[in-house]
Amino acid sequence: MFKKLASLALLAAAVTAQVPKGKAFDHIFIVFLENTDYDLANSDPNLRSLFSSGVALNNYHGVTHPSQPNYFAAIAGDYFGYKDDNAHNLDTSYKTVVDLLEAKGLTWRSYQENLPSVCYTGTSSKSLYYRKHNPFISFDLISKDATRCKNIVPSTQLQTDLQAGYLPNYSFYTPNIKNDGHDTTVGYASKWFSGFLAPLLSNPTFNNNTLVVLTFDEADDYTDKTNHILGLLLGDAVKNIKNTVDSTFYTQYSLISTVTSNWGLGNLGRNDINKPLSNVFSFVAALTGYQNVAVTNPPPLN
Ligand SMILES: *[C@@H]1O[C@H](CO)[C@@H](O)[C@H](O)[C@H]1NC(C)=O
Ligand SMILES: *[C@@H]1O[C@H](CO)[C@@H](O)[C@H](O)[C@H]1NC(C)=O
Repeated sequence: MFKKLASLALLAAAVTAQVPKGKAFDHIFIVFLENTDYDLANSDPNLRSLFSSGVALNNYHGVTHPSQPNYFAAIAGDYFGYKDDNAHNLDTSYKTVVDLLEAKGLTWRSYQENLPSVCYTGTSSKSLYYRKHNPFISFDLISKDATRCKNIVPSTQLQTDLQAGYLPNYSFYTPNIKNDGHDTTVGYASKWFSGFLAPLLSNPTFNNNTLVVLTFDEADDYTDKTNHILGLLLGDAVKNIKNTVDSTFYTQYSLISTVTSNWGLGNLGRNDINKPLSNVFSFVAALTGYQNVAVTNPPPLN
């Protein structure tokens, strides 16, 4: 009896031990707004008022156009030549950051505003949800795996999760087509975001060694060769460096390399290891020993 209990305890310890400790954060919460040039976002009063609570990234870049491939890039390290917003189902040879997270016992969710139901695969619901802004549903390794697909949830699940004392290690939060600025303006989107974020930052389950990343999918101006957009790091993970500006060159691929570097998750072997496109947010790189590459002339990314 005692022997059995002892071995169960050992087993439990072994399972726990497999989950790596995040070197810079225990949770990352990514929010994408839509189609806004850097200058416009950088002069938006609602966004500027958040600068003092975080780190402004003034050298952050989309990787192509239109919207959807930038979302693919952010979770898969490539957009696989799909430069459109049509529905695609990438077969089971296409891994994403989800595979890297789950392999180490880390948890994730895709929170989607106005998603009609858990694991909904439709393109548009005649509501405010758009599949092109939910990259997870396009990968068969997620959408055709019932257990995994349960992590693609209507955004109302966030409050339920927090009330239960739960925040996944990795969250991707997609505001609806109005709140993300796509069908509205950056002022509308930034006002939505400020109102959304404030209660989260004072929620102890949410703001618990948490890095919030606010950025955009792409620049609005397709003639901007560098696809320059604004990034903003918030949450208690950056509390010691708030009210600073980081001018390191970053792209949507940095969203994967920052996660893999933080937890030591390996890589997808795509642009998530393609320097300098894969530069890691510098406060994380400083803690993990990742060597970023300085960029004087950003490569064409449109
Ligand atoms: C998230 O990751 C950390 C390691 O950084 C772990 O200790 C924690 O339990 C995880 N939290 C959740 C909700 O999975
Ligand atoms: C914060 O995270 C720690 C470590 O993962 C956990 O033990 C603690 O319960 C969390 N606090 C809240 C309020 O969720």
